[in-house]
Amino acid sequence: MSIITWSDSLSVGIVEIDAQHKKLVSIINALNDNLLDSRSKSVFEQLLNELVSYTQEHFGTEEKLFAQFDYPETDDHKKEHKFFVQELMKFTRGFYEGGTEFLLSADIVAFLVNWLVNHIQTTDKKYSFFFKEKGLK
Ligand code: FEO
Repeated sequence: MSIITWSDSLSVGIVEIDAQHKKLVSIINALNDNLLDSRSKSVFEQLLNELVSYTQEHFGTEEKLFAQFDYPETDDHKKEHKFFVQELMKFTRGFYEGGTEFLLSADIVAFLVNWLVNHIQTTDKKYSFFFKEKGLK
């Protein structure tokens, strides 16, 4: 069962960014499914690693656009990205030390869902109009 369902409320109206957000949503959904099904540690490890690397790729895409177009809210936005990456690293360390029990006890999925949905709907959406005015689609 998907813990996040993609809808227009999550769209920032830029094709490349929406595609990346959809991929992040699908990784978090897979992580949740596997947590609920109590599958093997190697599956969690693979999904966590995928989440870390794809998050970095996605933040890199946004931050490259911020620099390219001199986005005025860059500093505050990057601080949110940095916080999320630090939290992901904490979860990853906890996972390697404590396994899937750690993920369950840390309620990682709730954190990931809340952070991502809130970040897209508030912070990311702030750049929609700005980038559209610059001609991004
Ligand atoms: Fe889509 Fe600012 O992360």
